Amino acid sequence: MIQASTTPSKLPQVGTTIFTEMSALALEHSAINLSQGFPDFPLDAQLIDLVKYYMTEGHNQYAPMPGVPALRKQIASKLKPYHADPFDADQEITITSGATEGLFATINALVHPLDEVIILDPSYDLYAPAVVLAGGNPIHVELELPDFSINWDKLEKAMSPRTRVVIINNPNNPAGSILPRAELERLAELVVSKDLMVISDEVYEHMVYDGLQHHSILSVPDLRDRGVAVFSFGKTFHATGWKIGYTVAPPNITKELRKVHQFVTFSVNTPIQLAIADYLSDPDHYQGLSVFFQEKRDMFLNLMATSRFKPLPSRGTYFQLMSYADISDRPDREMAHWMTVEHGVASIPISVFYQNGRDHKLLRFCFGKNTSTLQEAAKKLCKI
Ligand SMILES: Cc1ncc(COP(=O)(O)O)c(C=O)c1O
Repeated sequence: MIQASTTPSKLPQVGTTIFTEMSALALEHSAINLSQGFPDFPLDAQLIDLVKYYMTEGHNQYAPMPGVPALRKQIASKLKPYHADPFDADQEITITSGATEGLFATINALVHPLDEVIILDPSYDLYAPAVVLAGGNPIHVELELPDFSINWDKLEKAMSPRTRVVIINNPNNPAGSILPRAELERLAELVVSKDLMVISDEVYEHMVYDGLQHHSILSVPDLRDRGVAVFSFGKTFHATGWKIGYTVAPPNITKELRKVHQFVTFSVNTPIQLAIADYLSDPDHYQGLSVFFQEKRDMFLNLMATSRFKPLPSRGTYFQLMSYADISDRPDREMAHWMTVEHGVASIPISVFYQNGRDHKLLRFCFGKNTSTLQEAAKKLCKI
């Protein structure tokens, strides 16, 4: 019999994610949880009613593998402003179990053994393990502080004849940065000249602040042709527990990623797809999100103004980075633990988003929370 202890791990470096670890620590110490990226306020009752309606009406069996056609059609019309050529709901859009499965299926479809995949650090924790499971090699390139911009020299130097894919995350978790259109166009030139693909994680597309605009790869012709954009309804509709998202990619790539999707989940739950198809037809349900979250960001920043933490710019996502360099020189993991246990506020240390554990003495706080949660947390943080 095979013993678990003698089974070699395919992901020896990977443990439980920091999000699970910090949320568990917050629970254990009754701390306010600003660590994990989920709201603590309810979602729209209209959306819940729609799900109830479709369940009661008997829409409870398997959905078609690529997703319910009505939802894919709605997504295609939502995407219309991005590009003069319309998006083909049948051949370019696939509904997935959250952005997580969309990213996993995409990476496993595109990456072949020994392919190199460029990952820009700090990076969301899923990318590198998914590349490794596909047999590829993640090549990490650090973004430049203070605004987490791309260092184009470093990026080009990191490329080799084996490079196949570049993964970007825009708006960026944890950095809170966004990619200006000119940077995306520069990326397009680079990937065309080197014949690469792009995977663009855009789950925070509707959370962009200070009058700035989100630019999707789908709006840049050369990137639309050689890219996969990944989105999340969980993030957009305050329903992270529903795990529903989608990918948009040219037909040849969609065909390949669906081959993985059909054997990971086959299809996503039917009543929620039907409910979101209806709900999505009203753009007010997502167009006001930036204003909604900017108010929360500004409130959190105001409440923290008298603290010893120093904020970095947060131009997108619902995360605010804070430097604690003026408070302590402890490593960031230790600082986050200490603050949770001794001061009752959980955050995420940024070094975990770096392959080399780079510690800039930064913590990530999620401000996608109720006013009272933010007030209580800031009161505690101001005492540190
Ligand atoms: C950058 C990024 N990508 C992907 C995901 C996963 O999205 P989903 O919950 O839809 O799987 C998250 C969730 O926190 C995220 O922050």
